[in-house]
Amino acid sequence: MIITLQNQKGGVGKTTLSLHLAHYFALRGARVLVVDADPQGSARDWLQARETSAPFTLVGLDRPTVHRDIENLLRDYDMVVIDAPPRVTDIARSAILAADLVVIPVQPSPLDVWAAQDTVRLVNDAVVYKEALKSVFAINREIVNTAIGRDVSSALAESQVPVLASHISQRVAFAESLAHGQTVFETKTDTKAVAEIEGLGAELLGLFDHHVFEPFRRQA
Ligand SMILES: Nc1ncnc2c1ncn2[C@@H]1O[C@H](COP(=O)(O)OP(=O)(O)OP(=O)(O)O)[C@@H](O)[C@H]1O
Ligand SMILES: [Mg+2]
Repeated sequence: MIITLQNQKGGVGKTTLSLHLAHYFALRGARVLVVDADPQGSARDWLQARETSAPFTLVGLDRPTVHRDIENLLRDYDMVVIDAPPRVTDIARSAILAADLVVIPVQPSPLDVWAAQDTVRLVNDAVVYKEALKSVFAINREIVNTAIGRDVSSALAESQVPVLASHISQRVAFAESLAHGQTVFETKTDTKAVAEIEGLGAELLGLFDHHVFEPFRRQA
């Protein structure tokens, strides 16, 4: 299964969610590959900052041929998570084409909801070449105890792309853990952060388990 975290807006949590979801899948027993398709190399920086080996394999593939280049790697992994670059570039297009599922992290603000429509268009362009491609919104950096996440869910609902039920809150633990080359599963300072990633990861796996997505139908 190939999941691409994509949003042409910068700083919405693509890298944060890529690394955390990858760790979640690894903890569930999957052989996980993270592809850092962002020339900024944030995920590779995270790997550099680690003091122990990572719970998954991480490679840099910041070329517009990601969708072809990963073909050779797929055999060795159960899950591939692609951390896509911001902005509309050929690499971004390629990272989308590579995916079975595009997860679009979106922050709960009107500006972000409007900007997300550009990403939806980018995904729709790719659907022309890859009919089975699916996409979902994942709300990130929700401020705890506010209704804005719910308001944003209804605004996003108008775009035809489903909004995942699991939301990720604004939590210092996410930023702090990555700064130390870890995830919240390792720093263990915020059990709610762990629970949120587990919720999001399980919801994504559920989409695949319930044969919502083409790859499983192909295998069946
Ligand atoms: N849920 C969260 N809680 C707190 N901080 C967060 C959360 N999600 C992301 N951040 C912080 O927001 C900043 C941007 O996140 P991140 O680098 O994951 O975004 P990105 O979409 O990958 O950015 P870019 O477009 O530059 O690649 C980082 O400093 C990160 O630590
Ligand atoms: Mg990033």
